[in-house]
Amino acid sequence: MQWTALAVNPEAVKCDLLVISVPELKPLSHPLLALLDKKFGGNLIRLLKKEGFEGKEGASKLIYTQGRLPAENLLILGLGLGKKFEPEIARKLSARAAKVALQIKAVHVATQIHGAEFKTFSIGECAQAVAEGFGLASYQFQRYKKKDKNRREIKKITLISPSRKYLPEIAEGRSRGELLADGIFLARDLINTPAKDMTPLAMAREAKSLKGIRTRIFNESQIRRMKMGAYLGVAQGSINPPAFIEMHYRPARSRKKVVIIGKGVTFDSGGLSLKPPKHMETMKDDMSGAAAVIGLMSVIARLKPRVEVWGLVAAAENMPDARAQRPGDIVTAMNGKTIEVLNTDAEGRLTLADAVVYGRQKKPDYMIDLATLTGACLVALGDRISGIMGNDEELVDKLIEAGKKTGEKMWELPLADEYKDELKSPIADLKNVGGSYAGTINGGLFIQEFVGDTKWAHIDIAGPSWTEKPRDYEAKGGTGVMVRALAEFLSKF
Ligand code: BES
Ligand code: ZN
Ligand code: ZN
Repeated sequence: MQWTALAVNPEAVKCDLLVISVPELKPLSHPLLALLDKKFGGNLIRLLKKEGFEGKEGASKLIYTQGRLPAENLLILGLGLGKKFEPEIARKLSARAAKVALQIKAVHVATQIHGAEFKTFSIGECAQAVAEGFGLASYQFQRYKKKDKNRREIKKITLISPSRKYLPEIAEGRSRGELLADGIFLARDLINTPAKDMTPLAMAREAKSLKGIRTRIFNESQIRRMKMGAYLGVAQGSINPPAFIEMHYRPARSRKKVVIIGKGVTFDSGGLSLKPPKHMETMKDDMSGAAAVIGLMSVIARLKPRVEVWGLVAAAENMPDARAQRPGDIVTAMNGKTIEVLNTDAEGRLTLADAVVYGRQKKPDYMIDLATLTGACLVALGDRISGIMGNDEELVDKLIEAGKKTGEKMWELPLADEYKDELKSPIADLKNVGGSYAGTINGGLFIQEFVGDTKWAHIDIAGPSWTEKPRDYEAKGGTGVMVRALAEFLSKF
């Protein structure tokens, strides 16, 4: 995809598909439509009227221009009400345009920067959202497919600016959007690659190949020397050895330090507490937290925020085997706490416990973990909203705020003291499962036992990490959720 930005009138651009957008409320008297209508000899508005086009958010009309415009096709999109506009709408409209373009085999698309006219968001932010929408909607996971010679592709996109003075700002927003899409593509590829190939070591190698990031990998014996017994217990049932991944980004000048930990269970069979077949089908996605962290590190290496970032992943595969840990086994985490493992399927928290203890040694200002931790989170919040918990209200609020901007919703659940007692074991310091209800909160409470007084937030992405059906700018499979929200959060330092 090659991008350019031009200060031109939309009706003058020669391209295969021209994409414009108009707001709700008298859309048909919008000056641009009036202008285009003249070119169509008054038939454009008549047609839109007949079809009841009102500019509602998501409404669309595709028109073959028959030579009345230099553009071969015209796509008119509804923006909805100006006061309700947010960048997510520009992202969705652009995803729609990308799909239409592929359908009609348009190679060169010219598009307005949706929503910029409302001025509630800067034109740079809107251009970023347009770039994200086009980029993300074009994602296809091709690694295991025969090369398709006829694969359709948008080759060139022209962003139409209302004035030359905005061009630098548009270029900056567009490049940010492209960069983020690249990071998300990386995360999606890691998730979509079958667990047979995306082993802990394979994931570590991907992390190692990031440019601008210093990555260290600890092997099994090094992990044992660090006394990460909870993590090793999970890994011991697989013939694929664990790999502890440490990624480091350090800008020239930074005042703050953030540790971000991703759950990296490359396949979650449940272990001896085996999952039923249906629940296991998508469990190659149980490293979506890790994938997001790796994708994020690739983004910040290029975005260069003014904050030091450590990305950590305790990668392991959770398998049943002669050597696998048994329900009832007691393991010792890096900080000396003992854990009675009653359910080997509650493995994420075991790997995270050790990763969190390790992360504290970096003395971060903030620590964040991302994990496909509980099926209960899907029950509570569905597959579009992540659960968030933490011990620092300001951090949680900042993350939720960042997610609002990027279209990645989070909803806070309470780390309720009332449920803590259920994590007690009569024969160890803790057990790895809590009471039968509030599964997501129990997961958060368990991790909290290891964070000490570090300011920390836990994001349960079990729902949004994966989509069964293609949606706006997401293809079936891994979504790469939280790459954008965290990049947004980090860019505010
Ligand atoms: N990886 C799963 C959680 C999950 C479920 C993620 C569905 C995505 C979709 C996790 O390791 C798990 O199995 N959790 C158990 C915890 C329980 C045993 C306390 C669960 O949610 O049932
Ligand atoms: Zn599990
Ligand atoms: Zn899991």
